[in-house]
This record gives sequence, C-alpha cells and structure tokens, in this order.
Amino acid sequence: MDKDQQKTPFLTKLIEYANSDIVSHDVPGHKLGRIGNDLEDYVGEKTFRLDANAPRGLDNLNRPTGVIKEASELMADAFDAEQAYFLTGGTTLGILAMIMSTVRAKEKIIMPRNVHKSAINALIFSGAVPIFVQPHIDPELGIANHLEVSEVKKAIEAHPDAKCVFAINPTYFGAISDLKTIVELAHENNMIVMCDEAHGSHLGFSDRLPLSAMQAGADLSSCSLHKTLGSLTQSSILLVNSENVDHLRLRSTINMLQSTSPSSLLMASLDASRKTFCMEGEERLSKLIDMANDTRKRINKIPHLKALDKDYFKMLGSFGYDETKLIIKVSNLGINGFEAYRELADIHHVQMELAETHLILAVLSIGTRQEDLDALVDALQIISDKYSGQKLMPIKPKVRYTFPEVFTRPREAYHAPKKYMPLTDAAGEIAGESVMIYPPGIPIVIPGEIISEDIINELDFYKKNGSTILSDTESGFIKVIDKTEWIKWEKIYEDE
Ligand SMILES: Cc1ncc(COP(=O)(O)O)c(C=O)c1O
Repeated sequence: MDKDQQKTPFLTKLIEYANSDIVSHDVPGHKLGRIGNDLEDYVGEKTFRLDANAPRGLDNLNRPTGVIKEASELMADAFDAEQAYFLTGGTTLGILAMIMSTVRAKEKIIMPRNVHKSAINALIFSGAVPIFVQPHIDPELGIANHLEVSEVKKAIEAHPDAKCVFAINPTYFGAISDLKTIVELAHENNMIVMCDEAHGSHLGFSDRLPLSAMQAGADLSSCSLHKTLGSLTQSSILLVNSENVDHLRLRSTINMLQSTSPSSLLMASLDASRKTFCMEGEERLSKLIDMANDTRKRINKIPHLKALDKDYFKMLGSFGYDETKLIIKVSNLGINGFEAYRELADIHHVQMELAETHLILAVLSIGTRQEDLDALVDALQIISDKYSGQKLMPIKPKVRYTFPEVFTRPREAYHAPKKYMPLTDAAGEIAGESVMIYPPGIPIVIPGEIISEDIINELDFYKKNGSTILSDTESGFIKVIDKTEWIKWEKIYEDE
C-alpha cells in the first residue's frame, strides 16, 4: 500500500458537514433529522445528520472529483487495484455492471453454474450467451464448490470466441478455485476475467488466506465489504486492474444502475471499514483464523457433529479454503440444517448465516468475539445431547453433469410472451424463469432452456429430500414461453 490509509476523506468531510450549522434547503426531506420519527428516536439524531445527499463539498458519486475520488483511490490502493468504484447497491450491482459493460448481446461468457442470481439477471440485461461450467459438487453435502481448471480449459477451447471468464472467489461456503491459473489461461486466450468476490473482501488482507482476485491477476472484481469487512449492508466496491477494461463504458454502466441519490452513510462506512482493515486487518484476521480453527476442533469433539476444515476442502480438490467460514455438518444427528438453524436462533439466540440440508454455516469476521464462538459451541453441545441416537438422514445429493438444452438466450426468453403451467406438465416447454434448488444453489433451468422430463423428476427428487425450490412462480407452477404467441412475437422483435 502506497497511500496514507489512516485517512478517511469522505467520512471526515461528512462528519464536518454534519457538525456544521448549515441550513438545509436540499433533500433529504428529514432536514438532517428535524422531522422526527420512531427510527430517529431509536438511532438518534446523529445518524440522520450523517444522511446527506450531495451537498457542496461532499462530491458526487456519479462523477467524483473530490472526496469520493480521494476515498476511491485509497480503496484501490488497499485492494491492489488500479481503480475502485463505490457501490451502494451491493455486489448485485457490481456483477450487473461488470457483465453488462464487458459482454455485449450475443457474445459469450464462460461461468460456473452456481453463480448468484445477479449474474443470470445480467445475462438478461446484456443479452450475453452463457457457457456454463459445472463446479465441483461435494458428494457428501451436495454443495457446489470450486471450479476445476480442466473444466475451464475445456470451455475456453470449445469457445475461443468467448469474451470473458466469470469466477467466484470464494464461494459462499469458502471454497477456492485455482484462480491464478484460470486467469493465465483466460488471458492467453484474450479473455477478460471477472470475479464475484461478494464473500471475499477480506482475502487480500492476510497471508494466511487465499489470494484475492486482484492478487491473482483478475481484470475485474466486485466485493461486498458489508459481508466481511464491517461496512453497512449494501455497500460494496467494484475493482479494476486491467488495460482491457473500457473504463468509460464501465463508469456509465455503473451510473445507469446506481441511484442518483447514493447513501452517504453507506459510502462513509466503506471509507471507515477500509481504514480499519488497512490498520488492523492482518493481525485481527490471524487471530480470527486461530479462533475459527480452535472452534472447529471443539465442535469435532461433540458427538455426531462435524466442522469442515481446509483439509476437507483440499481433499475434495479445492485449491484453497477461506478459514473464516465455519461449516458444521449436523445431519448425522438425524436433523437437517434447517432444523438446527431454527433451534439455534429460537432457543439459543444464535443466528447462523444459512442452513442447507446437511449443514449450517457461520460467517465469521474480525467482529466475532471468543464468547460468540463459545455460545455456538455450547448450543451445539445441547443440540447434540438432545438428538444423539436418532437415525441418520438417508439424503444423498443427486448430481447431474449435463445442462439443459438451450432454445434461446436468457434475454430473448425474458422478453418473450409467457404463460403459467403446472411444473409436472412442463416437459418440452421453454423456461421463462430460473428455477433453483437450494442446496446446492445451482439453477436447474434458466430462462431460454428446455425443461425436460429429467429436470421435472430431478426437481421432484430434491423437493422430497428437503431442498427448497426457488422461482418467481408459486409452488408447483412454472412460467414458460407461450409458443403460440412466440412466432408472432419473434417477427416483431429483432433483438440485439
Ligand atoms: C455468491 C454471491 N454473489 C453475490 C451476492 C450479492 O451480493 P450483495 O448482497 O452485496 O448484493 C451474494 C449475496 O448474498 C452472494 O452470495
């Protein structure tokens, strides 16, 4: 880091503004907290005083030239990037912007099948053609993990005209792919590499953690600082380190998606969390990793529970593992992850990040205290005592290694006329929406793919085995393309 990371240009200026005797005739209408409401009663006037729009001196996020520019330059320096953009719409916005500004309609993008739904939505916005690569699936837990380099290589060789490769670093569960090699392969083939680092903002701050996307040489990455760095929810950044990225197009795409009234609180929180990590991140992350590993050992002594560690992921072929994620397999107790999640929250007041069929996940950060981990271990011991002796769950994940046949691009399917029908009658129809099962969080179909009998049986299997089926349509129904209207529609709609 070359810059003075003690500085917080935006936060400092915002506090100066909040403490000034300025008369507000601008928005927001709360006039620095002078209307008064129940929220203000709880959080206090100070929070409202910090919620400014874009008064003089506080710069403009759409075209920063002052304190936001300065804060972004510090952010870029902290993250080994050439440029950083502040986002107030989360990494959801970052993923949309990366894909929309890089891949034009009908151009190809290579991506893992377990992408976040914002990446599928970006295909609709951009008109891009996805080339999916199946991630490695844990045969015991059914969760989607890393990308095999060989699979990415195959996709690159089969589609040398692809514009870019999209990777996840790390996955929600902490699995890491060999990103450096993937970047080299992609660059040798003139492809841009962009990363979803929603769960990996902290990676670059510790030598004990896997490489961040920027350190691995990726061109673009979006990081949810709100998930692991302590900024406020929805605050993220988009990082660029590449000559091959069209900065003007990227900037205008971000501006297209971002509010013209970005939250000053969110931006200030990005500034503040960056400083904390630059000053204290390495030491506090190291302490956290030790605490996490110690907690894994303690959990592994509790009957029928298994806390997964780096060795487990490496055994499955992951290149690395983010040890700040804590996965606990609970299904050997005879309960599923959803039951454990509910019981932990409702009875023991321990809130986990998520539950899956077999497991629960805790996302740890430098804000996690030893007593918080003790509370989890104590609660798990009580749960283990309560359920020990029950029969094992017979659930086995079902893994399909082929993707549905594609009829049309997601964007065309999105614009096509639709109808609703029972899922059981939908064989041979073209999906008009994504249907995802959780776990493993992989879309079974996305808009434009053909729904086969196999897919219907698979969804049925997952449902019977405790997975949640996620789609826009009410349970048991699916939105499909109305083929009778489609022909007429195709004639009038020439899409780019
Ligand atoms: C893998 C992954 N990517 C992207 C996102 C979107 O990030 P954000 O919540 O910052 O919009 C999430 C959100 O949970 C995610 O899990």
